[in-house]
Amino acid sequence: MPEDRGDGRIDLLQESRFWIRIFKEHALFIRLGLPCDRADLINEAQSLFDELSALEDVLMARRNLDSRLIQEIAAVVSDLIEFKARVLRMQLQCDMYANLFPLLIDHIRREAVRFLEVLRTGSLWQPGSYLLTELIETLVFWLRIMREHIDFIRQLLDPSERDLIRVLEGIRIRFDDALETARDLQSMSDPRPDYFNRALRFAEEIEPLVRELRDLKAQAFEMLLQCRILSAVPSPLLLDHVRREADKFLEDLRTVRQQLRGFGRQS
Ligand SMILES: [Fe+2]
Ligand SMILES: [Fe+2]
Repeated sequence: MPEDRGDGRIDLLQESRFWIRIFKEHALFIRLGLPCDRADLINEAQSLFDELSALEDVLMARRNLDSRLIQEIAAVVSDLIEFKARVLRMQLQCDMYANLFPLLIDHIRREAVRFLEVLRTGSLWQPGSYLLTELIETLVFWLRIMREHIDFIRQLLDPSERDLIRVLEGIRIRFDDALETARDLQSMSDPRPDYFNRALRFAEEIEPLVRELRDLKAQAFEMLLQCRILSAVPSPLLLDHVRREADKFLEDLRTVRQQLRGFGRQS
């Protein structure tokens, strides 16, 4: 059997710092998109923002996590997931018309659900399940997130931004293909092959693509700050937010590639 198949254990403090900042911003984005006659929900989004903000301060000051703090994080994140699910349900049932895409709410709900799982297990993938499938699942998760970022930004651009829209549509096709391929490889890993060099090649090949998207987001953020782009983006912070998530994907991708090497065979 191949060697070096790790359990994906990670630095939970770093992981929590990253995601709690992200979730704080989710609460802000929801608040900005809610209709002004729903003061109850706006207040709820604001208190979640305040709670997550305070938690972020605690995490920044800490050197390590203890089980009490982990429980506290899990409780706040669970509340946020419940709130996102409730907002999404209202949208699906047309009980409320918000300036928020339902897919965006589903997207940020998925991000929180995944982090909660990582927090519970202390690992990027489910301990006990077949590692190869879990590694490819990580790629599927992130590629779907990246493709949706492209969709959200594209939809928020002013229709007069024709060149930018075309650039986004071009990169979207490549992410679409990458996501489909990742799903193919994931189902092919079901019979549990001992070696899967194709999966390693795939993980290597998507890195420049993710990097390209990451740079595009960083550039769009700068241009928004300089007021050089016309859009319906509620805050330039949204672009910085999705850029940070692309950097996080690149980080997780490095870990996945390392682990996938354990499934590589020298010919
Ligand atoms: Fe996010
Ligand atoms: Fe995201």
